[in-house]
This record gives sequence, C-alpha cells and structure tokens, in this order.
Amino acid sequence: MIALFDSGLGGLSVMREVRSRLPQHDLLYFADTACCPYGLKSVSFVQQRSLQIGQFLSDYGARLLVVACNTASSAALEVLRAELAIPIVGMEPGLKPAVAATRSGYIGVLATSGTLAGERFARLVERFACQQTVITQPCPGLVEQVERGAIDAPRTDALLKQYIDPLLAQGVDTLVLGCTHYPFLREPIVHMVGPNITIIDTGPAVARHVVHMVSEHRITPGNSTTHYLTTGSADDVMSTAQRLLREAIVVRTTIVT
Ligand code: DGL
Repeated sequence: MIALFDSGLGGLSVMREVRSRLPQHDLLYFADTACCPYGLKSVSFVQQRSLQIGQFLSDYGARLLVVACNTASSAALEVLRAELAIPIVGMEPGLKPAVAATRSGYIGVLATSGTLAGERFARLVERFACQQTVITQPCPGLVEQVERGAIDAPRTDALLKQYIDPLLAQGVDTLVLGCTHYPFLREPIVHMVGPNITIIDTGPAVARHVVHMVSEHRITPGNSTTHYLTTGSADDVMSTAQRLLREAIVVRTTIVT
C-alpha cells in the first residue's frame, strides 16, 4: 500500500495524479485536519507531527510514504528519511520547470510561509533560479478556503487577487503553485490571470517519481482500493473531499499521538 499525507485535503491533488498512473495499487490518504494548516506552525511542530504520522502510516502497513505537502516536506523530509525504514517521496515548489517556462525571467511562487522561509526553498532558488527573479508570495487563508471546499467563493477570489495582482504587476509570466492545496484553485487562477501566464503544478512530476519508486522497490499492485483517514471530523472532511474529487468516498477518523 502507498500512503500519502498532508495537513488536510491539498494532497488529494497529488493523490489523483498517483491514482491515474497506478490504477491497481492500494492507496491510503491521511489528512491531518486537526492540525491544519501547517503553514504558520513552527518547523519543530511540523517535524514532530510528520514523524508521528509517518510512523503511524508505516505501522499501518505502508510500503511507500508520499509527503503530499510542501510545508511538511520542507520541515521534515530529512528527519523522516532518517527515522523511518520505508522509502519516502517528498515534494518542493516547481522552480526548475518554471525556469524552463519563463520568458520574462520573472517567476512568482505561491506557497505557505513555512515553505518559503525554509532552507530547502533557499537552496532550490540558489540551485535552479540564480539568473531569474523569483518573487515569493505567502498566501494565508487560501488553504482554509480549500478545506471548506469554497473554490469559487467571493472571499477566495479576493484573496487570489490580493496575492496574484502584485506579482503580475512586477512582470511575472510564470506562477508556481507551491502548496498542494492550490491546484484545486487552478480554475479561478486561470480565469484571473488569462492564458498567457504559465501555471506550474508539481503533482504530475511527483506522481511520476512515485511510479519510479514503486518499480525500484518492487511494490506489487493490490486491489485498487483507496482508504481515507482524517484526524478531524470524518463527515466534514468527506463532504469537502467528495466535492474536490467529484466522487463518492468514505472517510474515517483516527487519532495519532
Ligand atoms: N498543502 C500543504 C502544502 O503543500 C500544507 C498547507 C498548510 O497546511 O498550510 O504546503
């Protein structure tokens, strides 16, 4: 079984990419809704929490762990790899594809404060984008809108406008969605920025890496099952997740300590 986790439902944007490439594998999606959002919490909190969840999912029978969260990857990838015995796939904002796509040389990165302040992100900019201008934009409030399923709400539009307009005014032609919640806002974002701005989502690249790891670690297909766990209210999470995924699912509540 392949387990994916996020602070909430954002990682479903990664899970749907994994599912489309590995239709026969068993997947377990874990939403840490009780602690969502991670973006404004301390690095040590997100590290500790990721470790607890990683251990829980490993004990649950995961053969591969996907950290479907940029914030948790930034804070905890090293410690997860050091402490857990199973292979781990993490993620980071898609700066490399953004550098390949930009014509103006101005790249906007939308992500959580935690991801943007992290050392991993600084190293990423240094490695791939030292000749471009990278403008970062933390987006408080957007994760909460996605968690409510409020994709096309006026408040979501207002937040998007507040965060994206200044980037466009500075000449950005490529926007990196550096948080797994944001791909669910792709439609309103495209509507706002028009067709000439390239939008980068790393979900498909992460899913391709998962496929590679599955074959490298000889993880055999299962029965195409998908299970969903949350540390929050199963009913609330189920109703939003169904809206985001556009399919009927069952969510169960669990406790991780
Ligand atoms: N979806 C996560 C990310 O990719 C976490 C967002 C949050 O909980 O603040 O960063």
